[in-house]
Amino acid sequence: METLDYGTRGSTAGASFPAVRMRRLRSSEALRAMVRETVLRPEDFIYPLFVCEGEGVRRPVGSMPGVSQLSVDQTLAEVEEVLALGIRGVLLFGIPDAKDEIGTGAYAGDGIVQRAVRELKAHYPDLLVITDVCLCEYTSHGHCGVLHGSDVANDESLELVSRAALSHAEAGADIVAPSNMMDGTVRSIRTLLDERGFSSTPIMAYAAKYASGFYGPFREAAESAPAFGDRRSYQMDPANVREALREVALDVEEGADIVMVKPALAYLDVIARVRDAVRLPVAAYNVSGEYAMIKAAAQNGWLDERRAALETLTGIKRAGADIIITYHAKDAARWLS
Ligand code: PBG
Repeated sequence: METLDYGTRGSTAGASFPAVRMRRLRSSEALRAMVRETVLRPEDFIYPLFVCEGEGVRRPVGSMPGVSQLSVDQTLAEVEEVLALGIRGVLLFGIPDAKDEIGTGAYAGDGIVQRAVRELKAHYPDLLVITDVCLCEYTSHGHCGVLHGSDVANDESLELVSRAALSHAEAGADIVAPSNMMDGTVRSIRTLLDERGFSSTPIMAYAAKYASGFYGPFREAAESAPAFGDRRSYQMDPANVREALREVALDVEEGADIVMVKPALAYLDVIARVRDAVRLPVAAYNVSGEYAMIKAAAQNGWLDERRAALETLTGIKRAGADIIITYHAKDAARWLS
């Protein structure tokens, strides 16, 4: 039997111009809205926050207009606004006052993120508090694990990063999100959380995280640039996609509940391939450099910020992301309302 696929085959009378006119369904906003395939919602977004020490601190990040380092009290005020806009989740990064070789601040019970989580959950129990789990903001050398000479030692770093995840869960984090790209991280965290009574805490794994030039502004915001070298021995080569599928498969096997692709824009194909490969929710991180490009062009009058940002976010969702971590979240939620 013949399939009724006139629109794509073009082999049957009526299947092409002039009978077919694609413009018919584009002629009014009501029609366009009716046939729209991808719709953004504020619930799709996770808003990253940089929490620093002090009281009443709002320190703007130069390369990320609209983003500031916030002390815990200011983080609470920010979250009030975030929730009012319909955004349900935040991703916390900590900026400690002191750093050392082994990133002690990352797993200190009274560390900056742990305190922020406790305060946030006490004031806003319904807020989804997600914590970035990594050592780089806490190590004096800025690498995501402990060093053996100039090498980042994989297995020794696992214990520390798992302790960090546990301390976040103990503080009340709803989801932990390891971003360190050491092999075995998800298994190590899952095992420790389960042993310590946190078998219900989900892991959002930075599964395919690339060694990207688009993290520049973040490293200013989080004060986490490596003191020497780069992260290419643990983050992925931007040229690879099959390897991303292996990374994702491994994280799923190790117990990830959500897998992430990062960055988003130069990796839309990776998002699409991952979406096809797994049944888990897929997150995409629309990173600092991607945000900064739109902001800078808009400030120069070269781009319409609203259109460019919403188009970008729509593209990330269309590619297959269920969840988008983005610094545009507050603006986008406002534009969508
Ligand atoms: C920490 C981490 C980074 C980002 C998220 N978690 C930086 C890095 O790997 O250097 C980047 C986020 C962004 O650029 O917005 N490991």
